[in-house]
Amino acid sequence: MSSVTETGRPHWSGRLAFVLAATGSAVGLGNIWKFPYITGENGGGAFVLMYLFCIVAIGVPIMMAEILVGRRGQLSPISTMKRLAQSEGRSSAWKLVGALGLITGILILSFYSVVAGWALSYTLKSAQGVFANSSADQIGGIFGALVSDWKTLLLWHTVFMLMTMFVITRGVQKGLERAVMLLMPGLFVLLVFLVGYAAVKGDFSSGLHFLFDADFSKLSKESILVAMGHAFFTLSLGMGAIMMYGAYLPKHISIGKATLMVAFADTVVALLAGMAIFPLVFANGLEPAAGPGLIFQTLPLAFGQMPGGAIVATLFFVMLVFAAWSSAISLVEPAVAWMTENLGMTRNVSCWFVGVATWWIGIGTVLSFNEMAEAKLWGKTFFDVLDYLTTNIMLPLGGLLIAIFAAWMMHKSSLLDELDMEEGILFHTWRFLLRFVAPLAVIIISANTLGLIG
Ligand code: PHE
Repeated sequence: MSSVTETGRPHWSGRLAFVLAATGSAVGLGNIWKFPYITGENGGGAFVLMYLFCIVAIGVPIMMAEILVGRRGQLSPISTMKRLAQSEGRSSAWKLVGALGLITGILILSFYSVVAGWALSYTLKSAQGVFANSSADQIGGIFGALVSDWKTLLLWHTVFMLMTMFVITRGVQKGLERAVMLLMPGLFVLLVFLVGYAAVKGDFSSGLHFLFDADFSKLSKESILVAMGHAFFTLSLGMGAIMMYGAYLPKHISIGKATLMVAFADTVVALLAGMAIFPLVFANGLEPAAGPGLIFQTLPLAFGQMPGGAIVATLFFVMLVFAAWSSAISLVEPAVAWMTENLGMTRNVSCWFVGVATWWIGIGTVLSFNEMAEAKLWGKTFFDVLDYLTTNIMLPLGGLLIAIFAAWMMHKSSLLDELDMEEGILFHTWRFLLRFVAPLAVIIISANTLGLIG
């Protein structure tokens, strides 16, 4: 953020800075932890294809809409929605979309932080060389021991929340962005290296067949919903994070190009993670549907066997922590900014308020893997319920409302002006996707799984 515009709001120095920050938000645990394990649980290829379809047909048009709304509104999501609704002559109730996003962000961070805590714990274990020459059973045992120990999970969850709130209170996003700018390419290079390792030492062919052979008989209604929900989750859409960053994007920069770069980088990272993990899963007789522990039970096996593995493992988990960190700040920033703008609280007080509330809710996730593992609602633990509710219901609902707002409530002239586009084929394709394809896909997929149709 270098220049200050006529509105007095600081702006990203250019497209690169915006793309890096948005990619910092998008690339995180969703790509490296979640994508592989839900792909494993949902049968592979057909699920991956569905996810890619959702990124292109739903994610990309909605991301453009979110950036556009954010840049036009110039405030935090609730106030932006209110301001734009007024200027477009619509009901100010649209601000509720911002409020929904704010709550969704806090709920997601509450479990995101617990999982980021696993990565913190694995950073330490890696540096201590714990994984050296371990068998698959031993590696599985290490993960099992970690998640069954609620005190350790709580400790690391607390550390990660403190790290996140530290960045938010100090307003040192710039420092973190600079670190992420270095570490994200590092993570990318390391993933490429791990894919190479998996190609040589793992069962590469089974891994790739699993990821890319689409057998649609394996795709349940539920899997389609999970693929769609994940498209929102991984691109940070539907809760205002990208809207918030859009407010900082300078006027002359093309929203379409910036969106394509972020979506492309995010997708490549997820696919690389899958290509590194599944060959190891099959070569070691592990279970693709092992669940949330999948990467923690497979990657350390590879680290334990390679020369210099302790260093590679430590680097990998440090970078994963940074990727999670830059996503975490974008999950709480809308809530903190809104409280500071509207409740007359200082930024510090808002931070503590939001941080403590999120930490508190996170305890439910900590206990979901041990003391409360048997306490189930609809067959799901507290963590599973929270993940399902936020990812598969709240984010798509938020995204749907943002799409409807941009495509149906805003004037065409406002859209053209903000996108800085001629009224040509690109604009019409985008508007068609946003008006019809994205909303109908979200409605049909949700209704289909919730048993309302079909
Ligand atoms: N996109 C992030 C990830 O994949 C998570 C996230 C979701 C961040 C929603 C912000 C908003 O890890």
